[in-house]
Amino acid sequence: MTTNAGSALWYLSRASGVVSLVLLTLVVVGGVLVRTGRSPRRALPRFVLLGLHRNVALVALVFLGLHVATVVLDQYVSIDAVAAVVPLTSGYRTAWVGLGTVAVDLLLAVVVTSLLRTRVGPRTWRAVHWCGYAVWPVAVAHGLGTGSDVAQPWLWAVTTGCAATVVAAVAYRLTEPKPSRIAAPAVAVTR
Ligand code: HEM
Repeated sequence: MTTNAGSALWYLSRASGVVSLVLLTLVVVGGVLVRTGRSPRRALPRFVLLGLHRNVALVALVFLGLHVATVVLDQYVSIDAVAAVVPLTSGYRTAWVGLGTVAVDLLLAVVVTSLLRTRVGPRTWRAVHWCGYAVWPVAVAHGLGTGSDVAQPWLWAVTTGCAATVVAAVAYRLTEPKPSRIAAPAVAVTR
Protein backbone atom coordinates (compact mmCIF):
# COMPACT_ATOMS: atom_id res chain seq x y z
CA MET A 1 0.00 0.00 0.00
CA THR A 2 1.17 3.55 -0.56
CA THR A 3 1.14 6.90 1.24
CA ASN A 4 -0.25 8.22 4.51
CA ALA A 5 0.77 5.52 6.92
CA GLY A 6 -0.95 7.38 9.75
CA SER A 7 -4.48 7.29 8.44
CA ALA A 8 -6.38 4.24 9.61
CA LEU A 9 -9.55 5.62 8.04
CA TRP A 10 -7.85 5.88 4.66
CA TYR A 11 -6.72 2.25 4.84
CA LEU A 12 -10.15 1.20 6.07
CA SER A 13 -11.83 2.97 3.14
CA ARG A 14 -9.62 1.22 0.62
CA ALA A 15 -10.02 -2.18 2.27
CA SER A 16 -13.80 -1.80 2.49
CA GLY A 17 -13.86 -0.76 -1.18
CA VAL A 18 -12.19 -4.02 -2.15
CA VAL A 19 -14.50 -6.08 0.07
CA SER A 20 -17.51 -4.26 -1.44
CA LEU A 21 -16.35 -5.18 -4.93
CA VAL A 22 -15.98 -8.87 -4.01
CA LEU A 23 -19.42 -8.89 -2.36
CA LEU A 24 -21.00 -7.12 -5.35
CA THR A 25 -19.51 -9.82 -7.56
CA LEU A 26 -21.21 -12.50 -5.44
CA VAL A 27 -24.50 -10.58 -5.64
CA VAL A 28 -24.32 -10.41 -9.45
CA VAL A 29 -23.40 -14.10 -9.74
CA GLY A 30 -26.23 -15.03 -7.37
CA GLY A 31 -28.67 -12.96 -9.40
CA VAL A 32 -27.57 -14.65 -12.63
CA LEU A 33 -27.81 -18.15 -11.15
CA VAL A 34 -31.26 -17.55 -9.65
CA ARG A 35 -32.56 -17.31 -13.21
CA THR A 36 -30.96 -20.46 -14.58
CA GLY A 37 -32.57 -23.86 -14.54
CA ARG A 38 -29.34 -25.87 -14.87
CA SER A 39 -28.18 -28.51 -12.41
CA PRO A 40 -26.15 -26.40 -9.90
CA ARG A 41 -29.23 -24.26 -9.49
CA ARG A 42 -31.32 -27.36 -8.90
CA ALA A 43 -28.83 -28.51 -6.23
CA LEU A 44 -29.47 -25.21 -4.45
CA PRO A 45 -33.20 -24.51 -4.32
CA ARG A 46 -34.31 -21.16 -5.71
CA PHE A 47 -35.37 -19.80 -2.33
CA VAL A 48 -31.88 -20.54 -0.89
CA LEU A 49 -30.19 -18.74 -3.82
CA LEU A 50 -32.62 -15.85 -3.55
CA GLY A 51 -31.98 -15.57 0.18
CA LEU A 52 -28.21 -15.58 -0.42
CA HIS A 53 -28.58 -13.00 -3.22
CA ARG A 54 -30.56 -10.66 -0.95
CA ASN A 55 -28.50 -11.13 2.20
CA VAL A 56 -25.14 -10.77 0.45
CA ALA A 57 -26.52 -7.59 -1.17
CA LEU A 58 -27.35 -6.23 2.29
CA VAL A 59 -23.86 -7.07 3.60
CA ALA A 60 -22.39 -5.40 0.48
CA LEU A 61 -24.41 -2.28 1.33
CA VAL A 62 -22.96 -2.25 4.85
CA PHE A 63 -19.39 -2.41 3.49
CA LEU A 64 -20.21 0.23 0.87
CA GLY A 65 -21.58 2.46 3.65
CA LEU A 66 -18.28 1.94 5.48
CA HIS A 67 -16.28 2.65 2.30
CA VAL A 68 -18.11 5.90 1.61
CA ALA A 69 -18.29 7.03 5.27
CA THR A 70 -14.54 6.50 5.82
CA VAL A 71 -13.69 8.26 2.55
CA VAL A 72 -15.80 11.25 3.62
CA LEU A 73 -14.56 11.31 7.26
CA ASP A 74 -10.92 10.86 6.34
CA GLN A 75 -8.98 14.11 5.99
CA TYR A 76 -6.34 12.75 3.62
CA VAL A 77 -8.41 13.73 0.62
CA SER A 78 -11.30 16.16 0.56
CA ILE A 79 -14.53 14.39 -0.45
CA ASP A 80 -17.75 15.62 1.12
CA ALA A 81 -21.04 13.78 1.68
CA VAL A 82 -22.60 15.43 -1.41
CA ALA A 83 -19.92 13.89 -3.64
CA ALA A 84 -20.92 10.48 -2.31
CA VAL A 85 -24.38 10.78 -3.91
CA VAL A 86 -24.08 13.45 -6.63
CA PRO A 87 -21.75 12.28 -9.44
CA LEU A 88 -18.87 14.48 -10.62
CA THR A 89 -18.93 16.80 -7.59
CA SER A 90 -15.77 15.46 -5.99
CA GLY A 91 -12.71 17.68 -6.27
CA TYR A 92 -10.54 14.58 -5.90
CA ARG A 93 -10.24 12.46 -9.08
CA THR A 94 -13.59 13.80 -10.21
CA ALA A 95 -14.39 11.32 -12.98
CA TRP A 96 -13.19 8.13 -11.25
CA VAL A 97 -14.83 8.95 -7.92
CA GLY A 98 -17.91 10.00 -9.95
CA LEU A 99 -18.15 6.46 -11.29
CA GLY A 100 -18.23 5.16 -7.72
CA THR A 101 -21.05 7.60 -6.99
CA VAL A 102 -23.00 6.43 -10.07
CA ALA A 103 -22.59 2.82 -8.86
CA VAL A 104 -23.90 3.72 -5.41
CA ASP A 105 -26.87 5.64 -6.87
CA LEU A 106 -27.80 2.71 -9.12
CA LEU A 107 -27.52 0.34 -6.19
CA LEU A 108 -29.73 2.56 -4.05
CA ALA A 109 -32.34 2.61 -6.86
CA VAL A 110 -32.28 -1.21 -6.94
CA VAL A 111 -32.64 -1.46 -3.16
CA VAL A 112 -35.45 1.10 -2.92
CA THR A 113 -37.47 -0.43 -5.79
CA SER A 114 -36.95 -3.89 -4.27
CA LEU A 115 -38.24 -2.71 -0.90
CA LEU A 116 -41.22 -1.05 -2.62
CA ARG A 117 -41.69 -3.84 -5.16
CA THR A 118 -45.41 -4.25 -4.58
CA ARG A 119 -45.93 -0.51 -5.02
CA VAL A 120 -43.77 0.13 -8.08
CA GLY A 121 -45.03 -2.94 -9.93
CA PRO A 122 -43.08 -5.78 -11.59
CA ARG A 123 -42.23 -3.88 -14.82
CA THR A 124 -40.55 -0.95 -13.10
CA TRP A 125 -38.88 -3.25 -10.61
CA ARG A 126 -37.45 -5.45 -13.41
CA ALA A 127 -36.28 -2.46 -15.48
CA VAL A 128 -34.44 -0.94 -12.50
CA HIS A 129 -33.05 -4.35 -11.52
CA TRP A 130 -31.60 -4.80 -15.01
CA CYS A 131 -29.90 -1.39 -14.70
CA GLY A 132 -28.51 -2.74 -11.45
CA TYR A 133 -26.25 -5.07 -13.40
CA ALA A 134 -24.41 -1.95 -14.61
CA VAL A 135 -23.33 -1.32 -11.01
CA TRP A 136 -20.69 -4.01 -11.27
CA PRO A 137 -18.68 -2.85 -14.35
CA VAL A 138 -18.99 0.78 -13.24
CA ALA A 139 -17.65 -0.16 -9.79
CA VAL A 140 -14.79 -2.14 -11.38
CA ALA A 141 -13.84 0.88 -13.53
CA HIS A 142 -13.99 3.09 -10.41
CA GLY A 143 -11.73 0.77 -8.38
CA LEU A 144 -9.15 0.38 -11.15
CA GLY A 145 -9.31 4.05 -12.08
CA THR A 146 -8.90 5.57 -8.63
CA GLY A 147 -7.49 2.90 -6.34
CA SER A 148 -4.11 3.69 -4.79
CA ASP A 149 -3.44 -0.04 -4.83
CA VAL A 150 -3.99 -0.37 -8.54
CA ALA A 151 -0.24 -0.76 -8.99
CA GLN A 152 -0.29 -3.76 -6.65
CA PRO A 153 -0.60 -7.22 -8.19
CA TRP A 154 -3.05 -8.32 -5.48
CA LEU A 155 -5.65 -5.72 -6.50
CA TRP A 156 -5.38 -6.87 -10.11
CA ALA A 157 -5.66 -10.49 -8.95
CA VAL A 158 -8.82 -9.72 -6.94
CA THR A 159 -10.37 -7.68 -9.79
CA THR A 160 -9.47 -10.28 -12.43
CA GLY A 161 -10.87 -13.04 -10.22
CA CYS A 162 -14.12 -11.08 -9.81
CA ALA A 163 -14.32 -10.43 -13.58
CA ALA A 164 -13.65 -14.09 -14.42
CA THR A 165 -16.37 -15.20 -11.98
CA VAL A 166 -18.97 -12.85 -13.47
CA VAL A 167 -18.04 -13.76 -17.07
CA ALA A 168 -18.26 -17.49 -16.22
CA ALA A 169 -21.69 -17.06 -14.59
CA VAL A 170 -23.06 -15.03 -17.51
CA ALA A 171 -21.64 -17.50 -20.07
CA TYR A 172 -23.14 -20.37 -18.11
CA ARG A 173 -26.49 -18.66 -18.18
CA LEU A 174 -26.35 -17.68 -21.86
CA THR A 175 -25.38 -21.18 -23.01
CA GLU A 176 -28.27 -22.74 -21.16
CA PRO A 177 -30.23 -24.95 -23.56
CA LYS A 178 -33.73 -23.69 -24.20
CA PRO A 179 -36.34 -25.95 -22.61
CA SER A 180 -37.41 -28.35 -25.34
CA ARG A 181 -41.05 -28.15 -26.11
CA ILE A 182 -42.88 -31.45 -26.27
CA ALA A 183 -44.60 -31.48 -29.59
CA ALA A 184 -48.34 -31.57 -29.15
CA PRO A 185 -49.79 -34.70 -30.71
CA ALA A 186 -51.49 -33.99 -33.98
CA VAL A 187 -55.18 -34.45 -33.55
CA ALA A 188 -57.05 -35.61 -36.57
CA VAL A 189 -60.44 -34.07 -36.69
CA THR A 190 -62.79 -36.66 -38.07
CA ARG A 191 -66.51 -36.75 -38.27
C1 HEM B 1 -20.39 0.31 -5.72
C2 HEM B 1 -19.68 1.29 -5.22
C3 HEM B 1 -18.18 1.28 -4.96
C4 HEM B 1 -17.27 0.24 -5.00
C5 HEM B 1 -17.52 -1.24 -5.29
C6 HEM B 1 -15.98 0.81 -4.72
C7 HEM B 1 -14.79 0.08 -4.70
C8 HEM B 1 -13.53 0.64 -4.59
C9 HEM B 1 -12.29 -0.08 -4.78
C10 HEM B 1 -12.16 -1.55 -5.13
C11 HEM B 1 -11.28 0.82 -4.57
C12 HEM B 1 -9.77 0.54 -4.66
C13 HEM B 1 -9.19 0.35 -3.28
C14 HEM B 1 -7.69 0.23 -3.27
O1 HEM B 1 -7.00 0.85 -4.07
O2 HEM B 1 -7.18 -0.48 -2.38
C15 HEM B 1 -11.91 2.10 -4.26
C16 HEM B 1 -11.20 3.24 -3.96
C17 HEM B 1 -11.79 4.44 -3.66
N1 HEM B 1 -13.13 4.76 -3.65
FE1 HEM B 1 -14.61 3.47 -4.04
N2 HEM B 1 -16.13 2.16 -4.46
C18 HEM B 1 -17.47 2.48 -4.61
C19 HEM B 1 -18.04 3.74 -4.43
C20 HEM B 1 -17.36 4.88 -4.04
C21 HEM B 1 -17.95 6.19 -3.78
C22 HEM B 1 -19.43 6.52 -3.86
C23 HEM B 1 -16.94 7.03 -3.44
C24 HEM B 1 -17.03 8.50 -3.09
C25 HEM B 1 -17.58 8.95 -2.06
C26 HEM B 1 -15.72 6.28 -3.48
C27 HEM B 1 -14.46 6.79 -3.21
C28 HEM B 1 -13.27 6.09 -3.33
C29 HEM B 1 -11.97 6.67 -3.06
C30 HEM B 1 -11.67 8.09 -2.66
C31 HEM B 1 -11.05 5.62 -3.27
C32 HEM B 1 -9.54 5.64 -3.04
C33 HEM B 1 -8.81 6.37 -4.08
C34 HEM B 1 -7.35 6.26 -3.80
O3 HEM B 1 -6.87 5.22 -3.33
O4 HEM B 1 -6.68 7.25 -4.08
N3 HEM B 1 -16.00 4.98 -3.84
N4 HEM B 1 -13.26 1.96 -4.29
